[in-house]
Amino acid sequence: MKTIAILNQKGGSGKTTLTINLTYALQQDGYKVLIVDSDPQGSARDWNNETEGAIIPVIGLDRASLATDIKAVTNGYDFVIIDGAPQLSTHMAAAVKSADIILIPVKPSSLDLWASSDLVEIIKQRQEIGANLQAAFVVSQAIKNTNLADEVVKVLAEYELPAFNSQIINRVAYASSISDGKTVFHTGDKNAQKEINNIKQELLQWV
Ligand SMILES: Nc1ncnc2c1ncn2[C@@H]1O[C@H](COP(=O)(O)OP(=O)(O)OP(=O)(O)O)[C@@H](O)[C@H]1O
Ligand SMILES: [Mg+2]
Repeated sequence: MKTIAILNQKGGSGKTTLTINLTYALQQDGYKVLIVDSDPQGSARDWNNETEGAIIPVIGLDRASLATDIKAVTNGYDFVIIDGAPQLSTHMAAAVKSADIILIPVKPSSLDLWASSDLVEIIKQRQEIGANLQAAFVVSQAIKNTNLADEVVKVLAEYELPAFNSQIINRVAYASSISDGKTVFHTGDKNAQKEINNIKQELLQWV
């Protein structure tokens, strides 16, 4: 069992969207998956309610005691994916503690990258005390056909955490499918499906 936490204290960075689509892609490969909604806003649970629980099992564990609480529910799963809460630093620290792998969705702007510096710091501290923890940025809501701006590449390099080669582009299918209680794999947007599958492949190389 591997626990993957999708974290960024910055609100609206694409955590829930990546959580749902990536988990679905892993499930399509035959892995047994569970989403843990650690956000008191309950967005992943709202989505699950929209699906009537038919697509992916979702459970809410939205207290700072996440690292303890999660132990009771992980048995039997190949991947447990934690959808992170914005702002709540206690919840974020608990999710970091629980995770084997952390993905940080981030919009390609320096302001958004700087907002994730606390998270990067917590990850580095865990790695320094010898925790077996891997982490990477995933550029999210990128504008099509633009290269990452130089300043973004520079900030990414300063953080000394890798970024996935595959990026998530800003596409209507992401927003509309979640609202409908679906995923991009239930839409006709093959490009969105491809980019999620590419991210899944990069992730699986780590496992
Ligand atoms: N690749 C994308 N293309 C278009 N819209 C997107 C994309 N990713 C996310 N969005 C939209 O951006 C908004 C924020 O996304 P999302 O809810 O996934 O972020 P979040 O990090 O989970 O937010 P919060 O911090 O509030 O939990 C939503 O309206 C979502 O539909
Ligand atoms: Mg969210």
